[in-house]
Amino acid sequence: MATIRMIVGADIAVNFTDGMFKGIYNGKQCHVSDIATVLSRAWSAGVDRIIVTGGSLEESREALAIAETDGRLFCTVGVHPTRCKEFEEGGDPEKHFQALLSLAKEGIQKGKVVAVGECGLDYDRLHFCPADIQKKYFEKQFELAYITKLPMFLHMRAAAADFCELVERNRDRFTAGVAHSFTGSADDCIKLLSFDNMYIGINGCSLKTTENLDVVKGIPVEKMMIETDSPYCEIKNTHAGVGFVKSKWPSKKKEKYDQECIVKGRNEPCLVRQVFEVVAGCKGINDIGKLSETLYHNTCRVFFPHDLDSAADALLAGNSTS
Ligand SMILES: *[C@@H]1O[C@H](CO)[C@@H](O)[C@H](O)[C@H]1NC(C)=O
Ligand SMILES: [Zn+2]
Repeated sequence: MATIRMIVGADIAVNFTDGMFKGIYNGKQCHVSDIATVLSRAWSAGVDRIIVTGGSLEESREALAIAETDGRLFCTVGVHPTRCKEFEEGGDPEKHFQALLSLAKEGIQKGKVVAVGECGLDYDRLHFCPADIQKKYFEKQFELAYITKLPMFLHMRAAAADFCELVERNRDRFTAGVAHSFTGSADDCIKLLSFDNMYIGINGCSLKTTENLDVVKGIPVEKMMIETDSPYCEIKNTHAGVGFVKSKWPSKKKEKYDQECIVKGRNEPCLVRQVFEVVAGCKGINDIGKLSETLYHNTCRVFFPHDLDSAADALLAGNSTS
């Protein structure tokens, strides 16, 4: 149980707009909406900040509304590769872009929007959106980053070559980025890290196989961030890294919902601790205080540059009392 107080830092990817946090699974209401309960578990597990991801204009609006409910919540504004058709659906892509831009500006003013995203390329799910549309509007979103000076929250799945080409072509238009939920090869990793200011986001999906773990071992911690990508990508019992997990919570099936327990099969931000533990374990890192400082520092440099110092202080204070 999460009684030990150690700040693990941030969870940079949580989809609180997903129905599961409203208790809805496959269209069926199984329990009450429970974001507040999920958040309190996260804060007591040592999570300090959460970035709520938006994947479309509408979802980004909802993500901002959620982020406004707590000082430790922040969000992204952007369009996920699988949703890029929405630029053309209203018949006026430029108008859609302007709507995203004004939402991003509004959210920056409120101190809530910390990145453009999720955007990128996903060639595993071309049935949602063809590659040419994905590429066109991935590139368009660098313009959002350029105008707002926001970093980029990136999604790359089975598309490393095209992805890196687009990043290369637009490298002067954004300050920094993270390729989140990384599941690529060691080669992909090298390509990404050839861009200074590119970080790699690790979650349960990045820790599934022994090949995945080997890739993670090779990523310098100075270039890494951790996340859950809740409600997806949890660390399952079959995952290669599961042996390194130390923090566990009692769980129950969604049909037997109990607010004292996590829901089986639904990832949530307190579990970023497990990602942290597997990263430390597979890399053989013993100084976990130092590791959490480095990972959190990376996150703050990219997403919270204005309070880099105060965030680092909070982390040090948290770690020294653990
Ligand atoms: C969040 O969840 C919704 C509902 O399942 C989904 O449509 C959307 O693509 C997700 N967004 C992201 C950024 O993963
Ligand atoms: Zn993603």
